[in-house]
Amino acid sequence: MSSHPSPALQAPADPGRLPMTLPLLAEKKRLGEPIVMVTAYDYPGARAAEEAGVDIVLVGDSAATTVLGYSSTTPVSLDDMLVLARAVRRGLRSPLMVGDLPFGSYEVSDERAIETAVRMVSEAGCEAIKMEGGGPAALSRARAIVGAGIPVMGHVGLTPQSATALGGWKAQGRTAAAAARIAQEALALQEAGCFSIVFEAVPAAVTEEIVRRIEVPVIGIGAGPATDGQVLVFHDLLGIRDGLGPRFVKRYANILEEMTAGVAAYAEDVRLRRYPGPEHVYKIDPAELEELRSQLA
Ligand code: KIV
Repeated sequence: MSSHPSPALQAPADPGRLPMTLPLLAEKKRLGEPIVMVTAYDYPGARAAEEAGVDIVLVGDSAATTVLGYSSTTPVSLDDMLVLARAVRRGLRSPLMVGDLPFGSYEVSDERAIETAVRMVSEAGCEAIKMEGGGPAALSRARAIVGAGIPVMGHVGLTPQSATALGGWKAQGRTAAAAARIAQEALALQEAGCFSIVFEAVPAAVTEEIVRRIEVPVIGIGAGPATDGQVLVFHDLLGIRDGLGPRFVKRYANILEEMTAGVAAYAEDVRLRRYPGPEHVYKIDPAELEELRSQLA
């Protein structure tokens, strides 16, 4: 599969920056250079990620909670994800674009998983997909998608689509047995052909033990500093949603506060008739205006 989507889907190439590729990611791991990944769900988010020079952009199914207002990730549909991913595609040039397979779009069979992954690539310009889980069914789906020529990023530890089955939104791998299961799943996903694996909400010491046994880049979210890279949800790191979120989130801005203050200032201006001002209005030739008045009279 080409790692360069159709020009119709993608922003024009930036001659100053090499597009991120799977070999470049592997090279970053080899050199010990941290890999930066962030989620995006729309054109402005993609532009911010592009301009900031991140390596990987994930159109995450976290879109369900961040931009669609659901309380979990399971309600987001494949059609929703395709709309969001296309908007991201139009804003991205250099980072590798990965699309999350939403809940219900890949579990039932390998064929269904391939169909979904193909749509993420051909209809939205994703260069790779991410899917959750490392059990026997997930491994079969990952192998099938890789076999169809689409790069797959795995995801172990806290997998939000199965949060209920995992006992809620909490760290995973806190007993030796549970940690060993994460190690086993990660190794199996690597064996299935995944080019990278996300570790979510795993104790830092457990991550450290596993990462040194994994050859593909491991990207962490709440998994400590030993991973080859980090990913955060755009809305968490920029403070675009209420609450502080999980303990691993570091806030780099308070955009929701800024947005609310901006809308409140606009509302006040309208109510006090301060907006629009003379600088915001269109003009008409006085003779034309006079003519209009006589016509209306
Ligand atoms: O959907 C998402 O944002 C994710 C990241 C947390 C890795 O899966």
